[in-house]
Amino acid sequence: MPSPINHGAYMNHLLITGGCGFIGANFIRYLLSEADFDGEIINVDKLTYAGNAENLMGIEQAFPGRYHFLKADICDRSAMAEVFDRFKIDAVCNFAAESHVDRSIDAPGVFIETNIVGTFVLLEQARKHSDRLTLFHHVSTDEVYGTLGKEGLFTENTGYRPNSPYSASKAASDHLVRAYGKTYGLPVTISNCSNNYGPYQFPEKLIPLMILNAVAGDPLPVYGDGLNVRDWLFVEDHCRAVWEIMKRGNRGETYNIGGACEKQNIEIVGTICDLLDEMVPRPGKNARRELIHFVKDRPGHDRRYAIDFSKLKQHLDWSPEESFESGIRKTIHWYLDNAAWVNRIRSGEYVSWIKQHYGG
Ligand code: NAD
Ligand code: TYD
Repeated sequence: MPSPINHGAYMNHLLITGGCGFIGANFIRYLLSEADFDGEIINVDKLTYAGNAENLMGIEQAFPGRYHFLKADICDRSAMAEVFDRFKIDAVCNFAAESHVDRSIDAPGVFIETNIVGTFVLLEQARKHSDRLTLFHHVSTDEVYGTLGKEGLFTENTGYRPNSPYSASKAASDHLVRAYGKTYGLPVTISNCSNNYGPYQFPEKLIPLMILNAVAGDPLPVYGDGLNVRDWLFVEDHCRAVWEIMKRGNRGETYNIGGACEKQNIEIVGTICDLLDEMVPRPGKNARRELIHFVKDRPGHDRRYAIDFSKLKQHLDWSPEESFESGIRKTIHWYLDNAAWVNRIRSGEYVSWIKQHYGG
């Protein structure tokens, strides 16, 4: 059963970490423009390579007094203490993370720092201010559960078996959040979500990378045999789910979020090629599927992820609304319509834009 109280009404000073990343930026836009949220948002983001303040350009002006941005590292204890004191934080939604599996294989250290130590630092501040804290919501991934064979789904009771440094660091942070709920009675919730796609995703992840390479006519590198399966969720459906859990989810519990949309990687890449051939024809050139080439597999590459989100459906009446067919079209259109954003990211120009606006 959902919590009988709508806790959303008590979140007046909501700290959102990692709000300049892909999902965080979509979530902030959703809360301010669409959701039944009346409070103020304090967005703390370190602006790493994946954080792009441009994702929220105009938000401060559009919602005067309701949006504050601070460039800071969640691992910085004194900076986080100051944020909690200065803004009288009464709820937290923690998106900040290093999020790319391939990068975690090359350089795991920063994943341990941000994903584990950073979450710990936030939890300590939450504990210190537990008198006024309504909720600490932690955004996590289905990758903590490891990999599936041909059959089965991850449920909230599936054991944790992370296989990459990324998923291991997220698993550790989930355990810390859960432990702070049990040990200190902190009001916590955790969501474990499948692969998101949609506007503002950094083009290192499968879908935006393939869209941009296919537009440019560059090679499309598919790992291994391309038959690995992911469950795809449109980012706006994820945002809606997180807010429902924050408002009415049972404190101390975990909720799985999925898109009911299992697809092999090769199918995704083929679909993107076909849609781009339709939307941006290349007269006289081969079909974009010919750009696909199979490359060396990722080490420890999880074979299949699939999510059972029936708890979220039953408790909080949430289901994904966007079909893959319409979501992928919207996503491709977004990348085609936002060439300036794409060019700034791909050229690294946005880094100098950030320095100019926020220093550092
Ligand atoms: P992202 O990489 O696009 O954004 C991460 C954001 O966190 C960036 O803005 C970055 O600057 C910020 N950040 C990184 N380190 C920081 C630090 N030390 N202090 C403050 N800010 C910092 O990631 P995303 O795809 O938006 O994912 C957001 C969250 O959702 C992550 O916790 C991720 O594990 C989780 N998640 C993502 C997916 C997905 O498909 N993208 C799926 C399930 C769960
Ligand atoms: P990714 O978007 O990195 O998300 P995750 O590893 O968190 O699931 O990758 C999605 C799938 O696509 C994964 O099975 C790896 C594969 N992949 C490729 O085949 N080629 C690529 O260039 C990338 C980035 C991913």
